[in-house]
Amino acid sequence: MKLLLLCLGLSVVYAHQEGNQAVVKSNFDISKISGEWYSILLASDIRERIEENGDMRVFVGYTQLLANSSLFYKYYAIINGECTEIPVVCDKTEEKGVYSFVFEGYNTFYIIETDYDTYIVYITTNFNNGTEYKVLELHGREPDLNQQLKQKFVNICQKYGIVEENVLDLTKVDRCLSARSKGDAPASSAE
Ligand SMILES: *[C@@H]1O[C@H](CO)[C@@H](O)[C@H](O)[C@H]1NC(C)=O
Ligand SMILES: *[C@@H]1O[C@H](CO)[C@@H](O)[C@H](O)[C@H]1NC(C)=O
Repeated sequence: MKLLLLCLGLSVVYAHQEGNQAVVKSNFDISKISGEWYSILLASDIRERIEENGDMRVFVGYTQLLANSSLFYKYYAIINGECTEIPVVCDKTEEKGVYSFVFEGYNTFYIIETDYDTYIVYITTNFNNGTEYKVLELHGREPDLNQQLKQKFVNICQKYGIVEENVLDLTKVDRCLSARSKGDAPASSAE
């Protein structure tokens, strides 16, 4: 009887972990975020920035941890109708887990949460000429993520003061996937 109860207990624990595998919310292992990513959802408190022709409407290709601990991101944006590569090097700041880069002003960002294998959520703050706004990004290892993760991202956005109407689903628009498949990503593209 005891053994049966133990088995039942274990299978409950196992089933619980399956749907919610090892989500990390602090002390990230940055080496594990390297590799290919796809932009899934994009949100901002200033919607125009992420709408068509907005300067923060960008699509991730891959992320790479550099030898000097900076992070490299290959992004794409549609500029004058063309998919254009936007390489970004992000340096560590004095604040733990916070990185900075220059793009349309000065930006800082940190990871909100990730499981390394499926998704990652970032928050970036842009400071430009006295104004400040936030951009939240949901990146996936595959070109799309399940509804549960998308809803989780919407909930996170709301916690940071971004309404659901300002969350854009990039899986339904041109994310420059064709540009990345002929590009130079370190791992072979899933497209
Ligand atoms: C780290 O290396 C990259 C690539 O060489 C460089 O662009 C970046 O400025 C370096 N970061 C620091 C903090 O030295
Ligand atoms: C910065 O803001 C000031 C005051 O609002 C404005 O006059 C100036 O043109 C802005 N500069 C840029 C580069 O946007």
